[in-house]
Amino acid sequence: MKIRYGKQRSRKDTSEERPLYKDPAAPIEDRVKNLLSRMTLEEKAEQLCQDTIGKDPNPDNHGVPRDFNPRVGSVYQFMGGAKLRNRYQRAAVERTRLGIPILWAIDVIHGWRTMFPVSLAQASSFDPSLAERAQRVAARECKADGGIDWLLGPMVEVAHDPRWGRNVEGYGEDPYTSGRFAAAAVRGIQRDGRCAACAKHFVGYSACEAGRDYSYTDLSARTLRELHLPPFAAAAKAGALTMMSSFNEYDGRPVSASRALLTDELRGRMGFKGFVVSDSGALSRMGNLGYARDPVEQTARAIHAGNDMCMGDGLYRHVPASVAAGKLSMEDVDLAVARILRVKFAIGLFEHPYVPERATKATCRLPGDIALAHRFARETMVLLKNDPPRGKRSSRVTRHASRGAAHRAAPVLPLDPRKIRRLALIGPAADEVHPHLGQWRAAAEDLSKGVNGETFLDAARRFFPKAEIRVARGTAFWDYAPNPGDAAARAAAVEAAKGADVVLLCFGDLPWMAGEKKSRRDICLPAGQGELIEALAALGSPLVGLCCAGRPLAFPELLRHFDALLWCWQSGCRAPTAAMEILTGKVNPSGKLPITFPRCVGQIPIRYNGHPKITRECPDYQDYPAENGPWFPFGFGLSYTTFRYGKVRVAGSAPGRSRPGFEATVTVKNTGARAGKETVIWYLSDPEARYTQPVRRVIAFEKISLKPGEEKTVRLRIDPMRDLAYDLPDGSRILEPGDFILSASLRSEGRFTL
Ligand code: BGC
Repeated sequence: MKIRYGKQRSRKDTSEERPLYKDPAAPIEDRVKNLLSRMTLEEKAEQLCQDTIGKDPNPDNHGVPRDFNPRVGSVYQFMGGAKLRNRYQRAAVERTRLGIPILWAIDVIHGWRTMFPVSLAQASSFDPSLAERAQRVAARECKADGGIDWLLGPMVEVAHDPRWGRNVEGYGEDPYTSGRFAAAAVRGIQRDGRCAACAKHFVGYSACEAGRDYSYTDLSARTLRELHLPPFAAAAKAGALTMMSSFNEYDGRPVSASRALLTDELRGRMGFKGFVVSDSGALSRMGNLGYARDPVEQTARAIHAGNDMCMGDGLYRHVPASVAAGKLSMEDVDLAVARILRVKFAIGLFEHPYVPERATKATCRLPGDIALAHRFARETMVLLKNDPPRGKRSSRVTRHASRGAAHRAAPVLPLDPRKIRRLALIGPAADEVHPHLGQWRAAAEDLSKGVNGETFLDAARRFFPKAEIRVARGTAFWDYAPNPGDAAARAAAVEAAKGADVVLLCFGDLPWMAGEKKSRRDICLPAGQGELIEALAALGSPLVGLCCAGRPLAFPELLRHFDALLWCWQSGCRAPTAAMEILTGKVNPSGKLPITFPRCVGQIPIRYNGHPKITRECPDYQDYPAENGPWFPFGFGLSYTTFRYGKVRVAGSAPGRSRPGFEATVTVKNTGARAGKETVIWYLSDPEARYTQPVRRVIAFEKISLKPGEEKTVRLRIDPMRDLAYDLPDGSRILEPGDFILSASLRSEGRFTL
């Protein structure tokens, strides 16, 4: 939804009884001006503040409950429900002089009551349309059920450091992919015109040193433009009504007080029209960075920079003092207040300040919502390994003397439930709801099975009805130090797994092992899980891993023990069913990694779109010279079928001419026996430029479905200014003639000259 700026005819304020700003038919700009003209400086200062008022479900922000002030602009982390919200809202609308409704906010990242896959998992689907639909559901649910108007998401930052816990909240390492999902999420949240999205955290916070949350970020202008800004530009273009400024600094200034970023870049270059809220406490904590310490000064600098609302610290209550001290102009204050009012008008808050009470049943977890969560989960899981079962592996390729043809032993997946008499379900995630639901639970605290959660065991019982299923935890999720109690648990698990036709190992992380303040110095598996894997592998039954995690983990030395490994992420309330559908072949896996998996922390940061090395003669590391690449690259993901790519053909480009557009095509054929989905990822390389370019970068992707034997032609419309040009450090865009290489999923490439 975009705000319409003053396109309608202006009206005059004729009646004191019904002032113009209360007239829904008047243009938004007139209403804003009219209301602004009636406000005192103190009332303006209140509009610029966002408080908490009680129960705060986010332990990571320091919002202090304060006496409720009905003139406040917004309340966040409100979990009191529609009824209580209406009561507070009534105080604002009916018992204050101007009756300005409060904007109610909370972090809704991957669902409100219906839990969808976490954002990083969503990106593995390479299907932004699913994210758009899921966010629309989330907005509908949180508005009706919780009285939430403002979803503090999507988190759109690119991230290449899996030590940083907040990878889980974003869409991976690629700026283009993150931008596509950012735009989809914004559209979904704002589609029905009643809620505002908040793209966050603008900008560069994810580049914190060594993955330490809230720590220093050292970014060049080049890296900022190449990696960090594009998803925000996409969110702005999609009409995001708000953005959140980040905790970090950029080039010697806290971002929250950087006019260059919040005004020149965000509003000037990106054309963002909404308002900016600071992250929780970011402004009053500027002093911790060694910047302004005096609250009056902090207020002046942040508002002048373009930071309109302060979250959680009440800092902008210093606005009158700041104005009186001559540090802050009334123009800057009015600009900020106007931007906030504009959003309130745009989402109809003045006309509909209250929400229906007791709407939950009629509006939440509708069958279609659960079906969507289910469908989404199917698309997010990534098959990382699928080999023939051990024992048959040595003879993996045998020749049939009679036919002379090469015969490859079948991979362990998909499983045929009819052939499985005994199934072992081992691991800490075997019978747990939590690993699937992600960290931002919002209102899905009701975890009763079948409502918003199920376990692998629940699903396995349905998919293997005839099998004897034995279950054992085997180890804890989170024991990095060797745990003496583990030996007994492991022995019990080995006992349960003995003689099984297949062992499903359900392992990984709990949701609260990723997220804000959840940085890790290592991303290996806890000792107990590693020992369990080794012990189970020694039994000789096929071992299939189901890993639940909110970040890439690195355990390459253990991979050989698995016959198959499915990366389940934290894929929401129907994840276990989706996993079983994949294991049994009802669904052919199609997820691809949106983030590079390193082999070990020493390789971090590692990403597909790095810059070329000056020489390739020297391996990256001398201790493992043969293993310089990632464990699993960006875009990796196996299928039960195979796809053949034809040649990439580029038509219509011509040397020396920057044509308005031309087309590239590639044919993709399903050469296997099963229907499947393939994501064609288009990468561009620009081998010579005035400013060095990444080895490659994604410029488009498309997910297609192919029946066995079917072939499709995938077309890419290339817009030179959009796809081939790049940003100079000052933000201007340059299109340089020369040679380009276009690759389809790194399977086939074509060259062209502009
Ligand atoms: C987080 C934000 C979040 C805010 C409110 C902060 O600590 O960084 O992402 O929106 O809290 O919960």
